[in-house]
Amino acid sequence: MQKNLLTQDYQINTSHYIHRNKHLPMVLWMTGLSGSGKSTLANAISKEWFDKGFHVIVLDGDNVRQGLNKDLGFSVEDRTENIRRVAEVTKLFCQTGNIVITAFISPLNKDREIARNIIGNDWFREIYIDCTLDECENRDVKGLYQKARNGLIPEFTGISSPFEVPIHADIHIQTNKLSISESVDKILQTLEPQILNIA
Ligand code: ADX
Repeated sequence: MQKNLLTQDYQINTSHYIHRNKHLPMVLWMTGLSGSGKSTLANAISKEWFDKGFHVIVLDGDNVRQGLNKDLGFSVEDRTENIRRVAEVTKLFCQTGNIVITAFISPLNKDREIARNIIGNDWFREIYIDCTLDECENRDVKGLYQKARNGLIPEFTGISSPFEVPIHADIHIQTNKLSISESVDKILQTLEPQILNIA
């Protein structure tokens, strides 16, 4: 489809960034319902790693949808395009040595697989931020579940739009059973050794 394009090679490549950063790039792909705790955990983990001098970036659905993806809504097709673009941006950040934490509902297995394929298995870690719909509705931090129940928001995930439980999650965090710091510890204990495993 794309014609007359040649990949440009640059003098500085991913291995130079890894050598300078002293850690590997990685993607923490957080998936879960709105209000499940994705942004909260992304925030806490990025702070921990920033303080250790790691190169870490957070991409968050609510923020990215106000800029790069402001032309997209919440139909199945638009969510697929949202995830595709985010995966491509994430890949660029990884290629330049960064750890990327993404906080997107990314409700469909097929879209998360597309993201995994774009980014590549070596860097991609799928983290299921699991919280019951009841608990998310109870929290209703943004007041959106109430609006969705009142018919004011169409295609709301968990209410009138599907969320598919991940099949291939690398890490499973139940935020209605663990505290924030327990959840952060579980993720850090699993992934930090991998990030620091430079050959
Ligand atoms: S995704 O499904 O395409 O991955 P994304 O994570 O970017 O969604 O955006 C989800 C955020 O958008 C929610 O946390 C919520 O604040 C807001 N939002 C607004 N409308 C909807 C909707 N119909 N369904 C889900 N989230 C919505």
